[in-house]
Amino acid sequence: MIQVENLFYTYPGNSSPTIKDINVSINEGEIFGFLGPSGAGKSTIQKILIGVLKDFQGNVKVLNQDVSKASSKFYRQLGVAFETPNFYQKFTALENLEFFAGFYNNTRLNLEDLLRKVALENTVNIRVSNFSKGMKMRLNIVRAFLHNPDLIILDEPTSGLDPVNVKKVQKFILEQKARGKTIILNTHNMNVAETLCDRVAFVVEGEIKLIDSPKNLKEAFSRKEIAVLHKEEGKENIEYFQLKLLGQNKRFQQILKGDELIKIHTVERTLEDIFVEVTGRALHDRETD
Ligand SMILES: Nc1ncnc2c1ncn2[C@@H]1O[C@H](COP(=O)(O)OP(=O)(O)OP(=O)(O)O)[C@@H](O)[C@H]1O
Ligand SMILES: [Mg+2]
Repeated sequence: MIQVENLFYTYPGNSSPTIKDINVSINEGEIFGFLGPSGAGKSTIQKILIGVLKDFQGNVKVLNQDVSKASSKFYRQLGVAFETPNFYQKFTALENLEFFAGFYNNTRLNLEDLLRKVALENTVNIRVSNFSKGMKMRLNIVRAFLHNPDLIILDEPTSGLDPVNVKKVQKFILEQKARGKTIILNTHNMNVAETLCDRVAFVVEGEIKLIDSPKNLKEAFSRKEIAVLHKEEGKENIEYFQLKLLGQNKRFQQILKGDELIKIHTVERTLEDIFVEVTGRALHDRETD
């Protein structure tokens, strides 16, 4: 669906490239996530994939065609949700979707149905100017799908959403994948990435540091150890043990034989821990995210 080879991009006026030698291939029917901290270059990559930024170096094929020669057919097959939603403020959500659907002559999805998927069905009398940030974000996501495109590119689809709406959006995206869509998203939310993405790319300072499935990453980086919580002289204590040859570990046996064992559990590493280990960078500023 997408092949990117040796991609470099420098913004006009900048002395050094923002995107540095990116190589990635994305399969049909896959949900692929670009993960990285603010300023990593995620939105820049997306803008290249959709043909908005043109003066790049390297080869970029999207929907099996050279993106620099994108035709109107290309844009009928592509759905995009930009970081900042832009809508006609005086229109309602449905009126906005009807307006944007007017640009396409493809088979369209049922617009009311789309609004229902993101809990906007009761907004028929509300102008978008009176929408909350999260409502605009949800409308922005479904708009990307309204002309039934094959490839959908979503920039930060869950940013600014409360947990209930994050779940709704995730469910909607997974339903679309089940219908055969290829979906690319940017996020700094590792839970979203883990729930949705078949594969993720870790992006830092314009480079891809690693590409793999969340499952493989969690296996490869698992510490293969357990945590044992027990009481010692009246105080709770947690100790870690390697799974390898655990049965022969004297200290572990000693704790088991005592009667103050509270809990044993495996040590799971989150995608976020792995990101930090691989890239040496925190994914986001906890204060603002
Ligand atoms: N129009 C522009 N001109 C010059 N530099 C730009 C422009 N747009 C973005 N940049 C720079 O390119 C780098 C990557 O920006 P980009 O928007 O791609 O990051 P991002 O990973 O999407 O970040 P965020 O998570 O904050 O959205 C940043 O250093 C940014 O300042
Ligand atoms: Mg961005």
